[in-house]
Amino acid sequence: MLLDSLPPTAVVPLSYSSTGTYIGIDVISGSSVYWDPELSSTPHLLVIGPSGSGKSVTLSALVHRFVRSYNVNAIIFDIKDEYRYLFSMYTDRVLIFNPVEVPLPLCFCEDQPTKKLEMINIAIESLSKVYTLSTQARKYLAKILVNVCNRCLDVDSIWNYEVDVYDKEISKATSTLTTLFNVYTNRYSFDEEFLGVYTSKQRRISIVNLKQIFVRDRLESALVVTYILKYMLSTFNVSTTQIPINVVVLDELWHVLPFLGDEFVNMLARYSRSLGIAMFMATQGVEDLHPYIDTIINSCGLFMAMSAPSISYWQKLQRYLNLSKKAIDYAMTISGQGIAVTRISPYKIPTILYVDPLDNFEE
Ligand SMILES: Nc1ncnc2c1ncn2[C@@H]1O[C@H](COP(=O)(O)OP(=O)(O)O)[C@@H](O)[C@H]1O
Ligand SMILES: [Mg+2]
Repeated sequence: MLLDSLPPTAVVPLSYSSTGTYIGIDVISGSSVYWDPELSSTPHLLVIGPSGSGKSVTLSALVHRFVRSYNVNAIIFDIKDEYRYLFSMYTDRVLIFNPVEVPLPLCFCEDQPTKKLEMINIAIESLSKVYTLSTQARKYLAKILVNVCNRCLDVDSIWNYEVDVYDKEISKATSTLTTLFNVYTNRYSFDEEFLGVYTSKQRRISIVNLKQIFVRDRLESALVVTYILKYMLSTFNVSTTQIPINVVVLDELWHVLPFLGDEFVNMLARYSRSLGIAMFMATQGVEDLHPYIDTIINSCGLFMAMSAPSISYWQKLQRYLNLSKKAIDYAMTISGQGIAVTRISPYKIPTILYVDPLDNFEE
């Protein structure tokens, strides 16, 4: 059902693709709606909507359907510690990872020096995204970390080096390193806990519980997201299929976007299909995406704007959803959690979709 052909115009059911993943119900016609990542311009999803409009419920329902349809991995960055509850509706096969309890790997002692260096560089690059580290500071940190990793020392031993505690950025970076990272003897010991599973064939849903870190220090939680994304990218091989093999969920995108920056947007727009990654993102308003509003929205094959009774909200979304003036008037009248004006690539004209969180009728 097209938004532009709403009453008083005659009701003409749109014939949706019946391939792909079931995503919800067309509110007007009652038909099931599918999204096919192979036919879609990209496999990415963006959900916009005010607080309480149903973004997180929508993301969890769609991640679950995607995982089930395509047997993909999902990694969910969760600053509110809510996804374990959202997923309890579907499955208990989720792994919850809290870097406060299981620190991130700075390096593995068993690795070759070049591999260690590669990982150290990812850590330092991530640190410099959130703290403004000078080139000198980065070199200095790299030297210390190489030493720690090559000698397989505990990460806390960084403090034994002459860290310039009066240099605010270096001491902040050092304290973050020692609280969030660890030197692991072998990959296996960490794989058992978390990330290495991504190199195996086993498919799973992992939730990175960032709540404690986020409440304590937003820069640190942004760092964790940045580091894990970079780590994942460094371990991925080029994908040969159109179907993603990993879904990365970034709810509350505003909290990391300023640190992820150009590199992330580039990945979204250009490379992630070839890396086999689908990004499922949510944030409150398009303004959170500044200065990448157009690039990010245009990089999403599925774009959903949850219902909200605000004219300025719809005006800002108008061009991305191809809304006519009449369609905006109509959008203002729809309300209810989980109901969204949705642009489903390759269709240009949006649908009014209700994402039913439970899958009962589909099975
Ligand atoms: N699709 C839905 N169907 C029914 N109720 C929903 C749906 N989506 C959300 N809700 C209700 O709205 C509440 C808030 O949803 P949530 O996804 O947390 O919003 P947001 O992430 O936008 O802040 C949920 O706890 C649930 O009670
Ligand atoms: Mg939410």
